[in-house]
Amino acid sequence: MVLLGEVFPNFEAETTEGPIKFHDWLGGSWGILFSHPADFTPVCTTELGAAAQLAPEFAKRGVKMIAVSCDPVQSHKDWIKDIEAYNHLAGAFPYPIIADEERRLAVQLGMLDPDERTAEGLCLTARAVFVVGPDNRLKLSILYPATTGRNFHEILRAIDSLQLTAQKKVATPVNWKAGDKCMVLPSISEDDAKKLFPAGVEVHEVPSGKKYIRTTPQPQ
Ligand code: BEZ
Repeated sequence: MVLLGEVFPNFEAETTEGPIKFHDWLGGSWGILFSHPADFTPVCTTELGAAAQLAPEFAKRGVKMIAVSCDPVQSHKDWIKDIEAYNHLAGAFPYPIIADEERRLAVQLGMLDPDERTAEGLCLTARAVFVVGPDNRLKLSILYPATTGRNFHEILRAIDSLQLTAQKKVATPVNWKAGDKCMVLPSISEDDAKKLFPAGVEVHEVPSGKKYIRTTPQPQ
């Protein structure tokens, strides 16, 4: 398992776009690696289609995309045709899919779902998401069971938050979306907050009298 802040494994793998070494493939960009249980399965077909439709949004944020499951490259390539047809995709499929037939990556990254198995009884990969920063370190991970499809709009929202924190020293509150007010990090002093956020810092009164709830317009 990789923990937040740790260097993501620099694994080597075969993909639908040829062999990769992960850090070289990332090349100092942000990246998202998302796993799915198996090729030619219905929920996965909707998820990979939605991810492909949102590829321009990931590109706008400088985030490279890559998917993985335990099927071989040729199976991925055949399945991509179904994903394209079902989701009405046009043009080249926008991201590679890793073949993890030996389940090496699935084990290394803690992605196996004990409740969902192949006909032979082997565990399938769950629906994991890893967002990796330009420093090759893990910035976010989520893990859904095989039976629950993810929301890729939520993943983009979380990436907006991650990138804002990385660049502007703010945190984002519940249900935040791009453009909403942000929270000043608790570690920032009152004086520094004034300098860092010239658009203004509002300190919200609470019964404890503590001045820890500080909002500021989203820094540009
Ligand atoms: C699916 O993608 O539909 C799926 C895959 C494995 C288990 C359950 C659902």
